[in-house]
Amino acid sequence: MNDFDLVIRGGTVATSTEVREADVAILGERVAAVGPSLGRGQREIDARGKLVLPGGVDSHCHIEQLSSFGVMCADDFHTATVSAAFGGTTTVMPFCAQHRGDSIPAVLADYHERARTKAIIDYAFHLIIANPDEATLSHDLPAAIQEGVGSFKIFTTYERMRLSDEQILDVMAVARKHRALVMVHAENHGVISWLSNRLVDQGNTAPRYHAICHTRGSECEAIQRVAMLAELVDVPVLIVHVSTVEGIEAIREARRRGVKIYGETCPQYLFLTAQDIDRPGMEGAMFCCSPPPRDEAAQEACWRGLSDGALDVYSSDHAPYRYDESGKLPKGERTTFKEMANGVPGLELRLPLLFTFGYRAGRVSLPEFVDLTATRHAKIYGCYPQKGDIAVGADADIAIWDPERRLMITPELVHDNVGYTPYAGRELQGWPVIVLSRGEIIVHHGKLSAERGRGRFIARGQSDATVPSGKKVPEMAQLDAWGTPLRL
Ligand code: URP
Ligand code: ZN
Ligand code: ZN
Repeated sequence: MNDFDLVIRGGTVATSTEVREADVAILGERVAAVGPSLGRGQREIDARGKLVLPGGVDSHCHIEQLSSFGVMCADDFHTATVSAAFGGTTTVMPFCAQHRGDSIPAVLADYHERARTKAIIDYAFHLIIANPDEATLSHDLPAAIQEGVGSFKIFTTYERMRLSDEQILDVMAVARKHRALVMVHAENHGVISWLSNRLVDQGNTAPRYHAICHTRGSECEAIQRVAMLAELVDVPVLIVHVSTVEGIEAIREARRRGVKIYGETCPQYLFLTAQDIDRPGMEGAMFCCSPPPRDEAAQEACWRGLSDGALDVYSSDHAPYRYDESGKLPKGERTTFKEMANGVPGLELRLPLLFTFGYRAGRVSLPEFVDLTATRHAKIYGCYPQKGDIAVGADADIAIWDPERRLMITPELVHDNVGYTPYAGRELQGWPVIVLSRGEIIVHHGKLSAERGRGRFIARGQSDATVPSGKKVPEMAQLDAWGTPLRL
């Protein structure tokens, strides 16, 4: 008689708080016990010499999503989640994108349908809001939060996505009232469009000019403005894909004032620079994302931000577009930098890159690695402890890493549908060789065994991250003192 369905025996188990030698026992879909010398499992995995880590949680990725230019991502929910699983990620949080004119219920229904039949790992959704009209604000967003979609991404740039300051405040007020998290793509639109129009008019169309237009100052200004708006209505905000020294400093500065502001960075800001966008011909298009990779000082600032907590999460911002007419090069060699699809792939390599160049290089400890890639995402976005931990009762979403396994990054290594990787040519040491999702072995030494559609939607609950700080700006405090508090 076996005590458990599966026992992962003798590995080094790491969570965001500790590292210890232990067995992990699984009953059904959940972790049943963690400790030494656990009873027998119907199936056993010998994990001696291996690291047993929570599966990654990627809280920023774009899957089967239409961009603001109307371009469909190269990955659907099957290819994206397969790729994620091979890289040790067991939960993804992609976006359901509202475009202007779309209604939120229709958008949500659409993305649920896309994911339901294809995802092989569990998924939660954020909403992108481009049309904060009355129905959206008063009814649809509160209803979405009720249904477990309690985070909204808004944009200060992209002609067809950006919200005015008034619209941003409207969305923030709803988030405050109903306890949702506002995620912001923060770049100054005027700067980007003014510079890019002039450059293209003057015949400067190569990918390298993309990095010029998205100035460091434009990120910093937008973060400062968003922080000021969030402070006005006292709502927590999370700035996605932070890329600059100045942007990180703006987050620190806002926090010193008491603003509840979170920051995210991504592999492209740790491992790429604007030099990559400046590669010959159109090759630079493969590295174009917004904001763009910067320089070594910015990379260092991102590493420091991850270590000292100025940046809370490390996500992929997987935005998959192929290096051909379907994505990066709609007009072939004649494509201007304004016309290229924005974004780089990173779902599969997010963890392995941080493992090799963060953990193995001594920049982050193993618990920090787990926190930055899994636990903190689950906590901030309201699905902890179901996800992001190896603890009794948690979903048995586990990646077993061979810390010595050496691999060269090539496009063929990666299982997404992009056809290239911006990280080709780097050598990794450490790879997730066995991956479990809710107790089921879905990747086993390079072999996938997961049925399409086995992934489940995670309805997220509230998290501490959505609780307002309680700090009022002087003007709001004055309104209170006069007995005329503003109804948000
Ligand atoms: O360039 C990027 N990051 N593209 C994806 C969309 C976004 O803004 O996150
Ligand atoms: Zn963005
Ligand atoms: Zn993104």
